[in-house]
Amino acid sequence: MTSTVGPSPYYENSGFQPENIYSTRQPEGANPCPPYFSTNALSVPSYDPRIATYQSSTPVARSSGRTCAPSVKKTIIIISSILLVACCAIAAFFIWYFVENRCFGSLIECGSSGACISPSQWCDGVSHCPNGEDETRCVRLFGPNFMLEVYSPISKSWYPVCQDGWNDDYGKTACKDMGYSVDTYYYSQGVATEVGFKNYMKLNTSAGNIDLYKKLYSSDSCASGNVVSLRCIECGTSAKSVNIMSRIVGGSGAVPGQWPWQVSLHVQGIHVCGGSIITRQWIVTAAHCVEGRFSDPYSWRVYAGILNQNEMLLRNGYRVQQIISHPDYDADSKDNDVALMKLETPLSFTGTVRPVCLPNPGMMFQPNQQCWISGWGAEYQGGKTSNNLNYVMVPLIEQSRCNSIYIYNGMILPTMICAGYLGGGFDSCQGDSGGPLVTNKSSVWWLVGDTSWGTGCASPNRPGVYGNMTVFTDWIYKNMQAYR
Ligand code: ARG
Repeated sequence: MTSTVGPSPYYENSGFQPENIYSTRQPEGANPCPPYFSTNALSVPSYDPRIATYQSSTPVARSSGRTCAPSVKKTIIIISSILLVACCAIAAFFIWYFVENRCFGSLIECGSSGACISPSQWCDGVSHCPNGEDETRCVRLFGPNFMLEVYSPISKSWYPVCQDGWNDDYGKTACKDMGYSVDTYYYSQGVATEVGFKNYMKLNTSAGNIDLYKKLYSSDSCASGNVVSLRCIECGTSAKSVNIMSRIVGGSGAVPGQWPWQVSLHVQGIHVCGGSIITRQWIVTAAHCVEGRFSDPYSWRVYAGILNQNEMLLRNGYRVQQIISHPDYDADSKDNDVALMKLETPLSFTGTVRPVCLPNPGMMFQPNQQCWISGWGAEYQGGKTSNNLNYVMVPLIEQSRCNSIYIYNGMILPTMICAGYLGGGFDSCQGDSGGPLVTNKSSVWWLVGDTSWGTGCASPNRPGVYGNMTVFTDWIYKNMQAYR
């Protein structure tokens, strides 16, 4: 794809500029009313009018010595009434502010918008909050063992769900609410809680046939001591183990089923970008792949389970129904470089077509953690698309290190993650964009990032930069849910 880094990285750090602008303007602002007073009284210091204003009433009182006492009293009364009114105004403002920003009684706050709704409206399937938090913030999967958590809008925190009374039907409901389709439901299982939780969500099984969230109540005990671990889709399994020593630039050829989530995205019969399967209908790719004239879903074809580009030309590929680019994607900085493609017809999963797992909140990827990238991108800087799928192992690089002056000098934003070798030699390259950066943890393959940019390919001190998937998963689930 496009070589995404423009001018030299060293001049691009606009982060420091606003400070300069403000600091040069500061002295002007120090004079509260400069244009009117300064032009008329060139030689008069700017603080003169203020002294005149304060003195205007007292000299009058002083000049007429005999009427001093009543006059002073009058002044005191006037000043104290002004003060009283001012105090009342300030108090009224604070009351108004409090009412505007906090919810009264049992009402619960939506989130950043500050709107209030009744607890029964939270997770009732109808969106009430201006930003929809009441329906998107209901359930989540936490950590590497997919622990189910339910949000309590009252305590504004997430609680694990006690396994007592839980069954697959509840599991399917929770998965559906996250945006998964029920036909991929995998399993629910109880997992022992290592550290005793202080609070759980418990099922009130005698509550009859009501909504799942209405049946849950918070409790400080869970008889079995097991909490629900929920798998909404069988993701992150690969038929083939990788040879860790194998090394897209400097990589090796993949074998069938090794990277089953990898797709090739074509426009007019040409490979343009990579992507990753996350469900039967959703593909994650980079926002810069679907910019401008590439934003039309009908121009794309998606190829899954095929290693060879030549072979794709003989097939039809899957049609794309919808493309959703991250609303905060910035083409210059590559901030939020992620997009979703929804397929017109769902994929059939096989040994060579399988989804990768989206990272769950609470998962930490260590610096230096071994990750793999794959794609049909160029095999050297300036080269052409490869015919075979290649892959290579790249370790993650710590954010602060990647942002250091001799690497990317502040260009790495929180939505990005670096991986590669400072010595160069192994990297993703043009044509790999949108494709996966994955890691294996707890015997599951996780999507850590999507290939985004880099200066050149495989050059020393210029590692690959990837979209930081952990930052995007909320946005992804929200869209999967909204465009089910
Ligand atoms: N922007 C490129 C693409 O569209 C990916 C570049 C990755 N570069 C790198 N040095 N890792 O395919």
